[in-house]
Amino acid sequence: MTQRPETMPETDGVDLLVRQHQEIHNLFQEVEQNTGHRRAEAFDRLRRFLAVHETAEEEIVHPLARRSIPHGDRVIQARLEEENKGKRMLQELERMGPADPRFEPLFARFRTAVRQHAEHEEQEEFPALKARGNAELRGLAAAIKAAEAMAPTHPHPGVESATKNMLVGSVAAVVDRTRDMIRKALGREHR
Ligand SMILES: [Fe+2]
Ligand SMILES: [Fe+2]
Repeated sequence: MTQRPETMPETDGVDLLVRQHQEIHNLFQEVEQNTGHRRAEAFDRLRRFLAVHETAEEEIVHPLARRSIPHGDRVIQARLEEENKGKRMLQELERMGPADPRFEPLFARFRTAVRQHAEHEEQEEFPALKARGNAELRGLAAAIKAAEAMAPTHPHPGVESATKNMLVGSVAAVVDRTRDMIRKALGREHR
């Protein structure tokens, strides 16, 4: 069963992100290896996990990396473009649903795009973050986990209306609400 991202044991921010990349890889495999409702359920966990992971990177990790890497603006701009492209593909997959005959070919392309994006982060971005030292890496892990714990990915059945539950589940809604909460917590909702 997927571990909720904020409960992962890593206390080093970069180790935590690499572990999440591994979990994303496992979830992709689960979708591909299953069919029917098991595939739908695995896809549901994958899209929520990705929405939370990428939002925490966009709000917390990339801004720190931008300040840590020579030519940080160029490197981070490329990562953000990859993330936006990935988000559009994921929303398209979400609209189709796993039962659609067009799902599999698009899912295969999406998987390649996400893997390449994660490799670029690990090669071009994370080494500079590692160089910031243990105290900063512990702080980074804490910030990422705090952000992920705020993500509205676990609606309580019966408490919210069916419509609201659906909204909570969509990638766009999870991204928007997670981003809002992180920005409020960081005191920069008006930037
Ligand atoms: Fe990312
Ligand atoms: Fe990532």
